[in-house]
Amino acid sequence: MSNHKFNYFDSKKGDDVIVFIHGFPFNCKMWDGQLDYFRDYYRCIAYDIRGFGKSKTEHYYFSIDLFVEDLKELLDELSLPKVTLCGLSMGGYIALRFIEKYPQYITRLVLCNTKAEADNNDGKAGRANSVQKILKEGKAAFVDGFIHAIFTDNSIKENNPSVDAIKNMMMAADEKAICHTLIALAARTDTTNVLSTIQIPTLIITGEKDIIAPPKIVEEMHSKVSKSEIKIIPNAAHMSNLENPEIFNQTILNFLTNKK
Ligand code: MLT
Repeated sequence: MSNHKFNYFDSKKGDDVIVFIHGFPFNCKMWDGQLDYFRDYYRCIAYDIRGFGKSKTEHYYFSIDLFVEDLKELLDELSLPKVTLCGLSMGGYIALRFIEKYPQYITRLVLCNTKAEADNNDGKAGRANSVQKILKEGKAAFVDGFIHAIFTDNSIKENNPSVDAIKNMMMAADEKAICHTLIALAARTDTTNVLSTIQIPTLIITGEKDIIAPPKIVEEMHSKVSKSEIKIIPNAAHMSNLENPEIFNQTILNFLTNKK
């Protein structure tokens, strides 16, 4: 489905709505396994962030705040004043900034493989280097390095099909959108102070081997969000929804249905 700007999937059935926000530099297809699983219980919406997947963009002045305004526009157009937000990594950065600006829209929050801290100096310099690498060596060089940062060695060695699926999504992504999003990620605000203001049920997930949002950082987030639960997913790195979908899905379903 699409409106004038966003490509999105909408399972349509049900009043309890989950909106899935994808990570960088993927698209809404990364949530296929969750959409199949949750659509029997909830109305599920997964959209492509501007410039990714099949969503267009009229310019490349990207920022996390712009992505937040886009999400608000989508929710308003779909007449969705109250939703559960589920974001992975960059999707979590967007969710955290969204709840800071528009808390009235969110009833429950699922933060996957993400963090509240902004990039430190090394992180910012790394983003700038990645842009230069893409310009000099092409997208494939960046993609190869990134794959090793987000999947466990086992998933790569054993040719887990989700490694290829994510590689294909990254290779299909618009190079300009990738570069401009790298700069947007480097410039994002720090949402650490937002954590203690969150008053809704929140589930915080990461993979035991995630090096981008490692368990230690995620445990600190959990200690700051009063109504939060935490789950460290075994046998998973950054793409915990793909590397261990059984435990990932069951954990979210238990959270949403209040089962421990
Ligand atoms: C993502 O998966 O969205 C990215 O790893 C986020 C990041 O690089 O900070």
